[in-house]
Amino acid sequence: MDAVQVMKQEVGRAAAAMVESNTIVGLGTGSTTAYAIQFIGDRLAAGEIENIVGIPTSFQAEVLSKQYGIPLTSLDAVDHIDLAIDGADEVDPNKNLIKGGGAAHTREKVVDALANKFVVVVDSGKMVDVLGSTFLLPVEVIPMAIAPVMRQLEALGGKPELRMGVKKAGPVVTDEGNLVVDLKFEAIKDPAALEIAINNIPGVLENGLFVGVADTILVGEIIDGEPKVRTIN
Ligand code: 5RP
Repeated sequence: MDAVQVMKQEVGRAAAAMVESNTIVGLGTGSTTAYAIQFIGDRLAAGEIENIVGIPTSFQAEVLSKQYGIPLTSLDAVDHIDLAIDGADEVDPNKNLIKGGGAAHTREKVVDALANKFVVVVDSGKMVDVLGSTFLLPVEVIPMAIAPVMRQLEALGGKPELRMGVKKAGPVVTDEGNLVVDLKFEAIKDPAALEIAINNIPGVLENGLFVGVADTILVGEIIDGEPKVRTIN
């Protein structure tokens, strides 16, 4: 397993260890959270924890949770979420995030923001000084508005690109049936203002800036050849 996978696995394990019995858990999307889902399932199967119910943030999270034996429910059936575990594409020093690499950021923001505690699981390569340094900012857009929205995103200073499918002709279609525009900014100096400005464009459903949502970041690192997990509270 390469170093990045080892870091992802270790933070996934550390996040799964934070899950307590009799709780409602938000289950994020992506390759790092996939490890957390796997380890939560292992802990349930081993009898270490019991009476967990998960709220998946995507079709992927739903499929994985079923595979690993985690009972699921929906937001209609619960009045709170105790803990949400989710990955990120970038994390800045203020614990603000860019998410949406898996085009699931709309549901992720609903679930992660509702949680009493939101724990982010990342490998050390995701840590940046300024958001937008390494990753494009995803924006979910309803299909009929794609042309005007792309023009207005450009007017905000970003370079918009429609996300295309891999091993699928045509654009990526989200779990909600919408399109994703990836926006290149040189640097996002005011994430809070940009998050609001983008979401104010008619036709935009949600963007991947998560400002002031994360409580704890678990960062996977390799130090002297050994995997370690650093906690940022
Ligand atoms: C999906 C996400 C993911 O959490 C993010 O892309 C990180 O993914 P990975 O853990 O595979 O690097 O926001 O929409």
